[in-house]
Amino acid sequence: MIEHDSVADFRSDTVTKPGAAMRAAMAGAEVGDDVMGEDPTLIELELEAAEFLGKGAALFVPSGTMANQVAVHVHCRPGDEVICDRRSHMFLFEGGGIAGLSGAQPNGLDSEDGFPELGAVREAFRSDDVHHPRSRLLCIENTHSVAGGRVLPPERLGQLVELARELELSVHVDGARLVNAAIACGCSPSELTRGVDSVSLCLSKGLGAPVGSVLAGDKAFVAAARRVRKTFGGGMRQAGILAAAGLMALRNGPGKLQLDHDRAQAVASVAAESDVFELAPVESNMVMLKTRAGSPEDLVAFLASRGVLATVYPGRQVRFVTHQDLQDEHVRRCCDALADWAPQRSSKPE
Ligand SMILES: Cc1ncc(COP(=O)(O)O)c(C=O)c1O
Repeated sequence: MIEHDSVADFRSDTVTKPGAAMRAAMAGAEVGDDVMGEDPTLIELELEAAEFLGKGAALFVPSGTMANQVAVHVHCRPGDEVICDRRSHMFLFEGGGIAGLSGAQPNGLDSEDGFPELGAVREAFRSDDVHHPRSRLLCIENTHSVAGGRVLPPERLGQLVELARELELSVHVDGARLVNAAIACGCSPSELTRGVDSVSLCLSKGLGAPVGSVLAGDKAFVAAARRVRKTFGGGMRQAGILAAAGLMALRNGPGKLQLDHDRAQAVASVAAESDVFELAPVESNMVMLKTRAGSPEDLVAFLASRGVLATVYPGRQVRFVTHQDLQDEHVRRCCDALADWAPQRSSKPE
């Protein structure tokens, strides 16, 4: 039996735990009632996040899901249509919130790498006709999780934003892992928000905070989002305790992500040596693979028996996510286990 602390946990970058310095910052945070606009640490976080994301203002929210759903609620009215990728988090994993919370209709497009093609967006756009929903919002997820951490570079984002302007669509970026995308592109996060109307960023994923996301946009958008956050139950009182962790994540987290990306490449290069695995391109902190022998569930069970946790994902894929709580030994263990799976299975007929 493997002791819990020694498990190499590749299930998600949400599993990181705050270390001693972060806990001390949380314990010592200056706080006030944030719903009354009186929490100095939270105000500091929102100002810093707005600048980091190149927007006029930002709002702290408890989760990435709330950030995205508040954005939809501000951009859309009931009966509107939201154009997004069919494998996006907002379409697949937010409890049907686009319809349930905002009365809007999602239109999920197929795509090769998680990012809508220009032609597909143009085709999905509804003409002004009483029979049609009003196309209102284009959502883009960067990096794209189910596609395996794929990255949308600034040039392609620019083309989508230009098309959205022509069609008079607003643009929301689900940037849960936007900093990973920026690191991968060698650009600043604000280059990946240029021209978009709103962007969410998770502090609680690779950046390492225990809780929280920010939603940024211009001042009028964020003022409207603040009202919706209250309605959705996301107004918190002495939330500076969480903001203190968020500030540390925003300041120190980005510098740790390149190592996560390098480790994902290390895992991928071992998997690439075996023809048992079919690998999606690895561009950030995720490795997404299919096994040609055995089932994804078999592979995940085999890895668990070796002290490595991974997740079965849509499309019969197995996902590995690297993050700052992993150690070199965990990465080696994962690589060794993958190398051992290959000969064991490839020699047997299915
Ligand atoms: C791309 C993406 N967007 C949004 C979210 C939602 O974040 P949260 O779990 O904080 O609600 C996730 C969570 O995994 C995600 O991967």
